[in-house]
Amino acid sequence: MCGIVGYVGGRPALQIVLDGLRRLEYRGYDSAGIAVIDNSVILTEKKAGKLANLEKALVERAGDGISVGSTAIGHTRWATHGGPTDRNAHPHLSADGRVAVIHNGIIENFARLRAELEATSVEFVSDTDTECAAHLLAAEMRALREAGAGAGAEDGPQLLAEGMRRVVRRLEGAFTLLAVDVEVPDAVVAARRNSPLVVGRGDGENFLASDVSAFIEHTREAVELGQDQVVLITPAGIEITDFTGAPATGKEFHIDWDASAAEKGGYDYFMLKEIAEQPQAIADTLLGRLSERGEIVLDEVRLTDQDLRDVDKVFIVACGTSYHAGMVAKYAIEHWVRIPCEVELASEFRYRDPILDRSTLMIVISQSGETMDTLMALRHAKEQKARVLAICNTNGSTIPRESDAVLYTHGGPEIAVASTKAFVTQLVACYLIGLHLAQIRGVMYADEVAAVVSKLQATPDALRELLGGMEDVRALARDLRTASTILFIGRHVGFPVALEGALKLKELAYMHAEGFAAGELKHGPIALIDEGTPVVCVVPSPAGRGVLRDKVVSNIQEVRARGARTIVIAEEGDDAVRAYADHLIVVPRTPTLLAPLMTTVPLQILACEIAAARGHDVDQPRNLAKSVTVE
Ligand code: F6R
Repeated sequence: MCGIVGYVGGRPALQIVLDGLRRLEYRGYDSAGIAVIDNSVILTEKKAGKLANLEKALVERAGDGISVGSTAIGHTRWATHGGPTDRNAHPHLSADGRVAVIHNGIIENFARLRAELEATSVEFVSDTDTECAAHLLAAEMRALREAGAGAGAEDGPQLLAEGMRRVVRRLEGAFTLLAVDVEVPDAVVAARRNSPLVVGRGDGENFLASDVSAFIEHTREAVELGQDQVVLITPAGIEITDFTGAPATGKEFHIDWDASAAEKGGYDYFMLKEIAEQPQAIADTLLGRLSERGEIVLDEVRLTDQDLRDVDKVFIVACGTSYHAGMVAKYAIEHWVRIPCEVELASEFRYRDPILDRSTLMIVISQSGETMDTLMALRHAKEQKARVLAICNTNGSTIPRESDAVLYTHGGPEIAVASTKAFVTQLVACYLIGLHLAQIRGVMYADEVAAVVSKLQATPDALRELLGGMEDVRALARDLRTASTILFIGRHVGFPVALEGALKLKELAYMHAEGFAAGELKHGPIALIDEGTPVVCVVPSPAGRGVLRDKVVSNIQEVRARGARTIVIAEEGDDAVRAYADHLIVVPRTPTLLAPLMTTVPLQILACEIAAARGHDVDQPRNLAKSVTVE
């Protein structure tokens, strides 16, 4: 999830774009860059690391005339294709240097496009998918000019818009693209498909950005672009079309938030914003993972298919929320791949002298990629010659660098300390790895894998629907704010969900909370139940695993009989559970193994709202850090 800014107008464009990038700084990033059009040249500067690195480079270049310009685009990058380096930072220029492009998203068919361009002798200078778009746009602009279009200077911006439309019609995936052409100095063109883009309407100037916080100090009038639209901004106006060129309209709105609310997209906390981003994060993590032959595609795999066929045991190692994702993965991997899979807390792993060898696959899961416990476990496994595959959200971080293979979750930066969208994207990554292993080991056929993938692809919409109906959960949270303890129970994949619900509550609301395997209650924890003790019960789907679901219902009856107040999370259509629920939270129907993508989400909201009702800092709970780099 990158930050994007574009400006055209009468004021110093470079400064306006840099200020906009600074406002997007909260999104976190690993590199930044700008392109300014001035005096018939495009000047670019880009640097890995923080925005300060870019600013320093610009100051150093001030002597050699980096100009303020009147048209500029700028980008902060959260790496997906290609590591976070100066070379891979945006903007990307066409080979003739006449077109500059910045991009947020993933171009799924980039490998095919790159091969096609290389066959016409285009030389690529980066590892990104974005560079394809720059070369394609330059080629389209040349073709349009050669065909005689745009002979008059006034046609230049229209030509640029048409060039962009031709390019985006060839792209698959999700993208926001912004481009400038040196021969069209007073225009920025942009396109949007499944990635955010808003236009800021000024007076004699206009803005583009991934969110309104980038231009809120200049204008409060904005237009949200629809899917598959192209927008052209010039000092004189804003023109929107669809990808075919037919006139289109965006959604006009007035921004009445202040700058800090704007960063949070109008949400009170980053955590709520990140919870709301989960459907998109899942969709982005699924993007580009299926080859044209229906096979799962992983990133940076330095393991051969034979290596993966030789695996006779899987260890999943992680901490906290990432560990809970690993617990869910165990059920999926053992069921689909039919090899033993152990899940371990990273902080415990190496101290118990685990038995590892060349045929052990260790999967490490880390949002930050820097968690010291996980890193030390990884190093221990490598010393024992095990092969290590990382699931990580942070491109270029230490854990993926030291692993033999990586599958990046494309969740975008997570600002709130409590992990939400990282968790659901880790689940998706685990499912993909399980399916990949099953496929190359021949225990699942391509059509069986495709059937699960299509269920996964349906989860973003289901989750959007679920998130749309969380008012009751919020009201319940206000009601529970004075509880002294809340217990969570579940079975099978519902057990890690129960643990995750309890962890969220502990870390955010500073309340006593515990998660249990529902069947374990009778072996001790049931003694905790008192009159009115809230117990959150995660009920499995009755479809396919009826026995499991009936067992959980019996556990609910056990706690109710002892006075518990039951908060039941169950699948839509499971009407029989109503009788046992003091509060019922209904989630969309999902296959059992994928259900944590749904059932975890109300628990995130519950914890967040209870914490807020208790007056706590939701985004930065006490005693915690986002990246735990000590053992
Ligand atoms: C809880 C949370 C932590 C992290 C844990 C691992 O909400 O965020 O439990 O999951 O510290 O962090 P990563 O995934 O960065 O290794």
